[in-house]
Amino acid sequence: MIYVKKPNELDKMRVAGKLTGDALKHIEEKIKPGVTTAQINKWIHEFITSQNATPSFLGYHGYPASACVSVNDVVVHGIPGDRVLQEGDIVSVDVGVIKNGWQGDAARTFAVGKISPEAQKLIDVTRECFFEGIKHARNGRRLGDLSSAIQRHAESHGYGVVREMIGHGIGRQMHEDPAVPNFGKEGTGVMLKTGYTIAVEPMINAGTFKIKFEPDGWTTRTADGSLSAHYENTIAIRDGEPEILTL
Ligand code: MF3
Ligand code: CO
Repeated sequence: MIYVKKPNELDKMRVAGKLTGDALKHIEEKIKPGVTTAQINKWIHEFITSQNATPSFLGYHGYPASACVSVNDVVVHGIPGDRVLQEGDIVSVDVGVIKNGWQGDAARTFAVGKISPEAQKLIDVTRECFFEGIKHARNGRRLGDLSSAIQRHAESHGYGVVREMIGHGIGRQMHEDPAVPNFGKEGTGVMLKTGYTIAVEPMINAGTFKIKFEPDGWTTRTADGSLSAHYENTIAIRDGEPEILTL
């Protein structure tokens, strides 16, 4: 069942979404060589709680932190710890916020100091994938249009699109219907309607799409050791262009 948000509920999604985007802006300038992944999590946690909001990831299915911090070949769900960021690393930070019972979810991949042109290209194309996809995120279009646009853009650069993890509807819960894959066929899938709110989150590998899971039950890496990037926003569907709630 896909829940259509009422105008007053969208207002609450805007508030949660803005805090989510602001949490990521809050750390952007702080990320540099020498910072640990645990420090990034601490900044995020303190920012969210200072806004009288709740970090949605903390305790979610037992997840032990308020942010996912995923370095280099870690695709998603990296657990913050004592790893020290080095010049040339890329680091994906994924954040979820609950405010007044409504959720926001967003992720960015950041450069640590000076990075290689190849790494920068991966970050840029992953972000572009999001914007290519959401050109189709409007009332009356099908989800497959969005998914296939993301896949086409990533694969046109020779990149792999992660299959096992996908975007999702979002609202009172972090994960609601519909499922929002980053791959698919035009003209297929759920028809998008005004008032749907979804998290669109391409996870793109420099190598193949294959991933592997670590024994900790969370950390997900590229199978071939290649770099991976992540870019996510929560958006609201309407007649024209979607509203991006977490920028
Ligand atoms: N942002 C992730 C998603 O979109 C969720 C992180 S998993 C958690 O599904 F356990 F950390 F919450
Ligand atoms: Co998400």
